[in-house]
Amino acid sequence: MDGNGRWAKARGLPRMMGHRAGVEALKTTLRLCSDWGIGALTAYAFSTENWSRPGDEVNFLMTLFERVLQRELEALESEQVRIRFLGDLEVLPAGLQELIADATERTAGNTGIHFNVCTNYGGRRELVLAAQKLAQRAVRGELDPTLIDENIFAAELFTAGEEDPDLLIRTSGERRISNFLLWQLAYAEIHVTDVFWPDFDEVTFTQALVDYQSRCRRFGGLEPIAVNHLGS
Ligand code: FPP
Repeated sequence: MDGNGRWAKARGLPRMMGHRAGVEALKTTLRLCSDWGIGALTAYAFSTENWSRPGDEVNFLMTLFERVLQRELEALESEQVRIRFLGDLEVLPAGLQELIADATERTAGNTGIHFNVCTNYGGRRELVLAAQKLAQRAVRGELDPTLIDENIFAAELFTAGEEDPDLLIRTSGERRISNFLLWQLAYAEIHVTDVFWPDFDEVTFTQALVDYQSRCRRFGGLEPIAVNHLGS
């Protein structure tokens, strides 16, 4: 969700107003995904590197997450959204952790779109944690290291049980992966738009999907092997 700060700056507003507007863009995108039958939406809300921002911005974001969760939980429940937070959640403020646990539990049985919010998430950290968990199982004699394959490894990631994303959308013209879903994005198509995240809407989302539909996905082979239908 890049470009919140620059969106605000361009309007002579404080950066925090950009994050507030970013929440509205996220709600719109989630609703569009849900309406259009997309199986999962994963948003990068706060990275392990974002702690290096000024304290007042970090505090604002943590409070914003809490307020949004409190305000939107009923709607998420009634719209059958299953929400999960991916990342190292133990270091988040205690009140936010409680809200996350409550929202996760209350929506766990929902049958609609999977909405994943990466919070204190880092792709490298996720891979290191997975390696640690597998090593611990091996030390306990529960796992033969020679049997570790991609499926066993993926089952230790925060995204366990999720399909890999088909499409990565990067806003504000950035052309980097920025430590996001390093394992899971192996074969994702990448769409870059210059639009700042708060301006991301039905038109720009449709452009991203049309771009995606034009891709020929061969997964390293010679023949296209997938219809470009966004099932997840
Ligand atoms: C990146 O823009 C955006 C963020 C670090 C925060 C995004 C968070 C939200 C929109 C809130 C979502 C809330 C919930 C509960 C899911 P930036 O600050 O890097 O913008 P810049 O690149 O223009 O400085």
